[in-house]
Amino acid sequence: MQTARQRSVTARRRKAEPEGSISLSALRTEAAVCRACPLWRNATRTVFGEGPASARLMFVGEQPGSAEDLAGRPFVGPAGQVFDKALAEARIDRQRQFVTNAVKHFKFERRGKKRIHQRPTADEIAVCRWWLAHEIATVQPRLIVALGASAARAIVGKTVRIGETRGQILTAEASLGGVPILVTVHPSYLLRIPDAAQRRVEFGRFVADLQAAKRHATGASGSGAH
Ligand code: URA
Repeated sequence: MQTARQRSVTARRRKAEPEGSISLSALRTEAAVCRACPLWRNATRTVFGEGPASARLMFVGEQPGSAEDLAGRPFVGPAGQVFDKALAEARIDRQRQFVTNAVKHFKFERRGKKRIHQRPTADEIAVCRWWLAHEIATVQPRLIVALGASAARAIVGKTVRIGETRGQILTAEASLGGVPILVTVHPSYLLRIPDAAQRRVEFGRFVADLQAAKRHATGASGSGAH
């Protein structure tokens, strides 16, 4: 049995309310009760995007991890710490950007006391895209940075190979407004590199991608993304 608010979310989806016509806070409130796929059942809460509607850069990850699920904010766990460090090196002020995920609920498998991350399916990404589309339409970023393959798939609408497209400026699917998108690795990839020297090299490449994104987002007016 759906609550009144869940019914309103469902009704909006049916009417396909024009994107960009709802404020971020209204979207956040509605997303909090989203039941469009089964992932809400095990997750603690919806983790909606955060940042100002005026952001020039939008960063899109895959889905919240365990720490994000508990905190209710994107990129605050171990991957978030790598992300924050790289943003600082690239001189990008996170507070002025919009940070979100392709999928808004934490998908995991319980093993004992641990909650082990599971990659979202293409269907789960497609269903959750409705929220991403509204975030993009509301913020209208100059550039979206896709952090990893799931994010890139959500935005481009098809499988994207990071190795082949990294650093290039692609275009978001027409239904997402054709916004320019830069694809790079997911910060958790850096956490999984066992060799410290290799990790430093890859971290440097990640920072270089963020700097390229910043240049692209600020190029038109010459004023800073930071
Ligand atoms: N990984 C993601 O893709 N997003 C988060 O918010 C945290 C970890």
